[in-house]
Amino acid sequence: MKIAPSILSADFANLKRDVEMTVKAGAEYLHIDIMDGHFVPNLSFGEPILRAIRPYSKQIFDCHLMVDNPEDYIAMLADAGADVIGVHYEATPHIHRILQQIKEAGCKAEVVLNPGTPVVVLANLLEMVDAVLIMTVNPGFGGQEFLPGMLLKVQELNQIKKDSKFDFDIEVDGGINDETIKQCQQAGATIAVAGSFVFNAANPVEKIQLLHKVTGD
Ligand code: DX5
Ligand code: ZN
Repeated sequence: MKIAPSILSADFANLKRDVEMTVKAGAEYLHIDIMDGHFVPNLSFGEPILRAIRPYSKQIFDCHLMVDNPEDYIAMLADAGADVIGVHYEATPHIHRILQQIKEAGCKAEVVLNPGTPVVVLANLLEMVDAVLIMTVNPGFGGQEFLPGMLLKVQELNQIKKDSKFDFDIEVDGGINDETIKQCQQAGATIAVAGSFVFNAANPVEKIQLLHKVTGD
């Protein structure tokens, strides 16, 4: 399974060191949580931070936009080096248009679902997305507990993916540790985000390697 450490839980005073640590540990993705204090009740960081760390990693930069008016950020994030841009279904009345905009900007397009939003809303989007992110906590903060009910959503989405022969990634985000990641993998997830499990540990490299090991990589 692909691992995406979330720098939301990194040491911001040592961000370059922490990014390089995730590279050394073999993480294929880097998850970048952008929050505006409106769509979610928290502020994190924006495009300048993404641009600043881009030279220190060849990982796939996976930007999770938790902002109102997400269409205003696509071009600048693409220019700063984003590879995947994820937009919440709940953040806009024009999700289809924004996914098109992301692809036109040369990035992979991902749609994100809050815990309270059912899979059925994706029906007219699945043929155009590169990935779907199923939130396994309510967005806004690291360190929250995994919501086990979200496994059913991952299973449901994976069934549709198989039945329709789609090949999008299924990503999970929130409360991921060495136990919950296995449940997500069994349900069909292909990418797992991990923040506090990695960065709050005494040895973060070991934690990334452990997540790879328990999922068979
Ligand atoms: C929450 C963010 C997550 C967060 C996950 O809104 O989307 O990416 O960093 O943190 P953990 O792994 O600690 O739940
Ligand atoms: Zn996230």
